[in-house]
Amino acid sequence: MAEIQLRNVSKRWGSFVGVDDFNLTIADEEFLVLLGPSGCGKTTTMRMIAGLEDVTEGTISIDGQVVNDLDPKDRDIAMVFQSYGLYPNMNVYENIRFPLKVRKVDADSHDERVKRAAAMVELEPFMHRKPAELSGGQRQRVALARAIVREPNVFLMDEPLSNLDAKLRVSTRAQIKNLSHELKVTTIYVTHDQIEAMTLADRVVVMKQGVVQQVGTPTEIYDRPANTFVAGFIGSPAMNLMEGTLQDGTFTGDRVSISGLNGPNGPVTLGFRAEDAHVGDDQGEISAPVYTMELLGDATMIAVRAGGAMVSVKAHKEFRAEIGDTVSLSVSPEICHLFDAQTGARIAAE
Ligand SMILES: Nc1ncnc2c1ncn2[C@@H]1O[C@H](COP(=O)(O)OP(=O)(O)OP(=O)(O)O)[C@@H](O)[C@H]1O
Ligand SMILES: [Mg+2]
Repeated sequence: MAEIQLRNVSKRWGSFVGVDDFNLTIADEEFLVLLGPSGCGKTTTMRMIAGLEDVTEGTISIDGQVVNDLDPKDRDIAMVFQSYGLYPNMNVYENIRFPLKVRKVDADSHDERVKRAAAMVELEPFMHRKPAELSGGQRQRVALARAIVREPNVFLMDEPLSNLDAKLRVSTRAQIKNLSHELKVTTIYVTHDQIEAMTLADRVVVMKQGVVQQVGTPTEIYDRPANTFVAGFIGSPAMNLMEGTLQDGTFTGDRVSISGLNGPNGPVTLGFRAEDAHVGDDQGEISAPVYTMELLGDATMIAVRAGGAMVSVKAHKEFRAEIGDTVSLSVSPEICHLFDAQTGARIAAE
């Protein structure tokens, strides 16, 4: 078992702050995803947990034991990196076996463990091939098998699917989720792909410039983003965010007016998701010319400019309009999220 605790963990290089005051308890067997744009501190956080990077401030504990000064090899953690780091001269079998040799695991058990790990990621037919004779997805699975074979308490995976094509990503993603469940290991998974985060995670940590923005289940993060950064990062498309003024429960902005809201008078940012609104009759809350129309197959996405932003609304798949046609969009107050215009923080009293 492995519960991981980060207490006031910071990483600084000189005056540059890579990770700022990170606090989190990761439960035993949890699948935690670190999500955020490039440079937000995901890899740094992971490397500190693995022991590959010193902690400037704070403590990291595994099962109650502070590990700040523990060597990576003594942490019972297996890491899978974006670049697979396979040994080109060894075949698949030897690559998977390597960690057992390094750790001087009883040689009698090697063959069984290597075969079991290989079977889990369906590599049995390729045991005698060298990495150069494998596809990207197969190499990725060798890297996974090499982590699995150790039977660690913790898996750290840093963008392990980034070199795969879209289809392979989806199937390998499912495999990883299933493995983590089967093996009952605590898993921390880094990605900047929000769909990957939503599909894999028990909980997601959204980071920006070294600072945790929100921690929650995928549903919590999607349905109640803590601020405009999270709202604008999660979802495809991301949440629509319009600038305007709230006065006695009515939000007014460029080409938009929505009544029946609860919040303080003054400037606010109003958000709603494309799938929660619809193309309405002439009485809609937004009335604006079509900027673009995209056929998605299962729906038609309409974009207009309103409230100082590009706003997307999902329409019925048969809906058609010409660019420049005025459309009326229904945005009921129940689907709206209000955020502080200055700080971007969610306004709770809704
Ligand atoms: N050794 C270092 N010295 C100084 N700054 C560093 C060092 N390593 C990382 N950084 C900086 O710390 C910040 C966080 O880096 P990190 O690698 O954790 O980002 P990331 O979230 O993993 O991004 P990406 O998605 O691009 O991999 C970046 O701005 C990076 O330039
Ligand atoms: Mg990184």
